[in-house]
Amino acid sequence: MKNKVWIIIGIVVIAVAAAVLIVTQFFGGSHGGIDNEPESDVSGESKILVAYFSWSGNGQQMARWIAEETGGELFRIVPEESYGEDYGACADRAKNELDNEIRPALSSHIDADVMAQYDTIYLGFPIWWYDLPTPVWTFLEEYDLSGKTIIPFFSHNGSSSGANSLNRLTQLAKGSTVLTDEVLSIPGSSVANSEDKVKEWAANELK
Ligand SMILES: Cc1cc2nc3c(=O)[nH]c(=O)nc-3n(C[C@H](O)[C@H](O)[C@H](O)COP(=O)(O)O)c2cc1C
Repeated sequence: MKNKVWIIIGIVVIAVAAAVLIVTQFFGGSHGGIDNEPESDVSGESKILVAYFSWSGNGQQMARWIAEETGGELFRIVPEESYGEDYGACADRAKNELDNEIRPALSSHIDADVMAQYDTIYLGFPIWWYDLPTPVWTFLEEYDLSGKTIIPFFSHNGSSSGANSLNRLTQLAKGSTVLTDEVLSIPGSSVANSEDKVKEWAANELK
């Protein structure tokens, strides 16, 4: 009987430790959800689009540096229904959408004739549940991306290879060339100090 109690206590301790590990791995370096506001409208005057989805601001910062460096037009992928500010609620919704392959509706859009002007899309996102966040799925399926080059950049808290996100991106970005070998991957906690690294990478991609 005593042994059983110790086994149960052991299992509970391991489960709690695993939960803490997952939460700190995913959320270390994050600062909660920021706003859910779009960037200014894009015009198609540049050949480069810098499109991003960002919940806690790391990807937004990277995207802004990339746009500064390349002269690309900034576009934020904005879900109609915000993921809110709370980690737990955001994580639960993200997991449910991923498990059920739900494409959340977006409130930010690009006219088809404007999208047609871009040759290159820098596409930024966080790793969510070892995969591509579902708002990016919606974005990729909304447009005719054939003939375009997509250059991914992402931030993470441990999944430095991007886990399944790049496979997913390649599957969804039909007709485009996704430069999976040239990806920029930065830990969320390092983004604030990575301006030079991000700009250098973005400039190199244009050569
Ligand atoms: C719902 C959710 C799921 C996450 N899943 C992962 C994951 O599977 N692997 C990982 O390395 N980081 C994970 N993270 C951490 C984020 O990728 C990381 O904090 C990233 O820098 C956030 O970028 P953002 O500020 O642009 O939203 C997750 C974060 C959230 C909110």
